[in-house]
Amino acid sequence: MSANTPEQAEPRTSESNTPEPVRVPGLRLVRLDRTTPEVALLREVLPRQRVAPEQRRFIDEAVHTLPRADDDPARHPFAIVLNDGPLTDRSSAQAACVGFGVIDRVGRLRDLVDDPEHAVQLRAFYVPLEHQGKGIGRAACSAPLLDLLVAAIAPGATQIALCVNDGNDLGERTYRSAGFLPNGRRHDAGEHGMQSVFTRPVETGSHPVPQLPEHR
Ligand SMILES: CC(C)(COP(=O)(O)OP(=O)(O)OC[C@H]1O[C@@H](n2cnc3c(N)ncnc32)[C@H](O)[C@@H]1OP(=O)(O)O)[C@@H](O)C(=O)NCCC(=O)NCCS
Repeated sequence: MSANTPEQAEPRTSESNTPEPVRVPGLRLVRLDRTTPEVALLREVLPRQRVAPEQRRFIDEAVHTLPRADDDPARHPFAIVLNDGPLTDRSSAQAACVGFGVIDRVGRLRDLVDDPEHAVQLRAFYVPLEHQGKGIGRAACSAPLLDLLVAAIAPGATQIALCVNDGNDLGERTYRSAGFLPNGRRHDAGEHGMQSVFTRPVETGSHPVPQLPEHR
């Protein structure tokens, strides 16, 4: 880990930190730590999804990260789903599943933020290559979608943190447009290289937080 200095952090301004809510009609985040027919279909198709070969240095795909999340009660995997109706079979799930991510309540938060008890980490987040560039990534990590998911998983969380690899310009652009800013910390991700830590507050606004029963 290299030096972490608050001076490296960019000042938050109301203009840069509160983007307009991003909406992609039909886009939703589906928790995979549930046992439903829809989750079963999504779990079938997710391991086949791929990012571009040159993006694999930034991310491990769900085929690797979903089993790791399943083994850790602090990690909550989710699918990014784009459709207007229920998922009824494998082909509808294949067409509707447009990404993946994990909300981690513990992970490396102590290294990433000053107040790890009130933060979560977004990790393993990606949109497969064929769905990139359509606004899905930005909407999925913006308010209200991601914030409502975080509030349901970790009601005490006031901050979302994530790590972006040096050179991942598309990732950084996506996160900045969703309201994330560097907090000045750096993280050494070993074989994945050096990363900058980005954060933003959880903003649920007036949206009601869904209360789902815990099944884990
Ligand atoms: C980063 C990622 C999630 C973005 O998802 P996406 O759905 O492609 O992104 P969006 O379409 O919402 O676009 C987000 C921003 O990137 C820009 N963008 C998207 N595709 C682009 C492209 N091919 N070239 C240039 N800019 C592009 C958009 O214009 C937008 O910027 P803006 O909000 O300033 O206008 C996706 O590219 C990805 O999965 N990459 C590989 C894995 C990865 O790096 N994950 C992040 C790990 S930290």
